Amino acid sequence: MSIIQAQHIMLNDPAHVRVAYEPKYSHGSAFINGTYVDLDNAAIPMSDLGFTQADACYDVVSVSKGYFFRLEDHLERFESACTKFQLTNPYTKKQTTEILTNLVKQAGAKEAYVWWAVTRGFMPDGGDRINPNAYENRFYAFVVPYVFISNDEQRARGIDLLVSKQFIRIPPEAVDPTAKNFHWMDLKLSLFEANTANKEWSVLCDASGYLTEAPGSNIFLIKDGVLYTPDSGCLEGITRKTTLELAKEIGMPIHVERVHVEQLLNADEAFLTSTAGGIMPINTVDDTVLGGKAGPGELTTQLHNLYWTKRWDGWLGTAVDYSTPANV
Ligand SMILES: Cc1ncc(COP(=O)(O)O)c(C=O)c1O
Repeated sequence: MSIIQAQHIMLNDPAHVRVAYEPKYSHGSAFINGTYVDLDNAAIPMSDLGFTQADACYDVVSVSKGYFFRLEDHLERFESACTKFQLTNPYTKKQTTEILTNLVKQAGAKEAYVWWAVTRGFMPDGGDRINPNAYENRFYAFVVPYVFISNDEQRARGIDLLVSKQFIRIPPEAVDPTAKNFHWMDLKLSLFEANTANKEWSVLCDASGYLTEAPGSNIFLIKDGVLYTPDSGCLEGITRKTTLELAKEIGMPIHVERVHVEQLLNADEAFLTSTAGGIMPINTVDDTVLGGKAGPGELTTQLHNLYWTKRWDGWLGTAVDYSTPANV
């Protein structure tokens, strides 16, 4: 079995290509605290604490073949992140869905990366900064054509991964990783570390050498047919949840528990998961070829292909009706 060339299909198959849109939305569409605007003209007020202090939470859902995937799960995770960070979404779930759907329609995107956030907003007049109710939280969203953080070529040969030596993931006791947040500096700098080491991606451990997560993605490994992924220290990824369900479907035993980095180095197969890439096979970890054989493993390939074929059949999807205009 070979890896489905999902990116190629998204860009070329008539069922996936963009439908008509106004030229100003060619880069995408945006919504800023009540106003729809084309992405090129979307701007953040500079003193929003989301910008100056990373004081925000966000989420990303994807659309493929005209279906949002697991929209309700993303909306729920987002509301839970707001609660954890004492932020309030000014819009209900229903209103949020309407805004996101309008943006997808404006961009004419059958394949879309759909981002939204609630920020703390501005410092309250009078400087009452210790009272969360004194802030007026702000809502931002944008839609761009789908972003594949690991392209067809990379997924077909597998990613060369570095276990970061310079960074650990911010501990959950500092910033709760289950609330999707803007604290990305450890993740970002580990990517630059990977680049310096001639690798393509990084993964971060905690202070005791247990795996947490990778920049924008969760990590899985397979040993003797059993699937392992960390139970803590990471975002509870929606693609991770999906992968666990698919693994169950094909009869794989699953262990969601603390996973030591040594287990990754001794794995038969491994992969990363993300909304912006699906299931992304790993080829090497710190130069060790997993399973002693280059390229994606068999079970990883099976999961990868199931993920896209089921999505394109409408599995857990919410169809976007492109025949009616955005209600803005
Ligand atoms: C830090 C982090 N971990 C994991 C993930 C994967 O989560 P999901 O599958 O919901 O996209 C992301 C997604 O952006 C992320 O930012």
